[in-house]
Amino acid sequence: LRGKKGFISAGPTYEALDPVRFIGNRSSGKMGFEIAKAAANLGAEVVLVSGPTHQKVSHSSIDVKPVISAQDMYSEVHKHFETSDIAILSAAVADFTPKDVAIQKIKKKSDTLTLELEKTKDILASLGTIKKDQFLVGFALETNNELENAKGKLKRKNLNLIVLNSLNDKGAGFKTDTNKVTFIDDKENILEFQ
Ligand code: CTP
Repeated sequence: LRGKKGFISAGPTYEALDPVRFIGNRSSGKMGFEIAKAAANLGAEVVLVSGPTHQKVSHSSIDVKPVISAQDMYSEVHKHFETSDIAILSAAVADFTPKDVAIQKIKKKSDTLTLELEKTKDILASLGTIKKDQFLVGFALETNNELENAKGKLKRKNLNLIVLNSLNDKGAGFKTDTNKVTFIDDKENILEFQ
């Protein structure tokens, strides 16, 4: 990968509810950070756009850009896509975000609380629509109809490759040091790792 530029998105996003609370997810960022290290060790210049995580990396070819929300990640990723050869979107981006963020801490006045959420922008899909020669890689975390769902996402989001993670597999999913994935490319070649 010497001479190639790429960016990797990693980790969760946090969607603010009020000044002290957010909606997040269990992504640790481990996978994205490991992909960034592997790409840099192969010679690539890497920008690592990461949501809030405890992962650390120190590598002269990795430039970490910390972000918090799905909207922050969207803006940061779009700064780097045009000049990239490869884009790997492994972040677990929130699909919904609170419609209104309370300016003051929400008080527990009533027995129930209803939150209105609105869809976030799909970062990966937005890159698929403006893609030129970039090699665009997305991830799919599925619990059922895994292959069919992943192939659907590959086509819908105009990807070159999709990496399928199944939560049904032991040793796969969030916060493990191992993973078990299947690669599907745009020619429907399937490569299953055991
Ligand atoms: N992704 C993204 N921006 C979002 C949501 C997801 O870039 N707002 C990316 C992820 O980084 C990942 C892929 O899209 O590469 C996951 O696709 P997605 O359709 O979000 O998967 P699911 O959330 O599993 O979709 P669905 O709920 O439709 O199954």
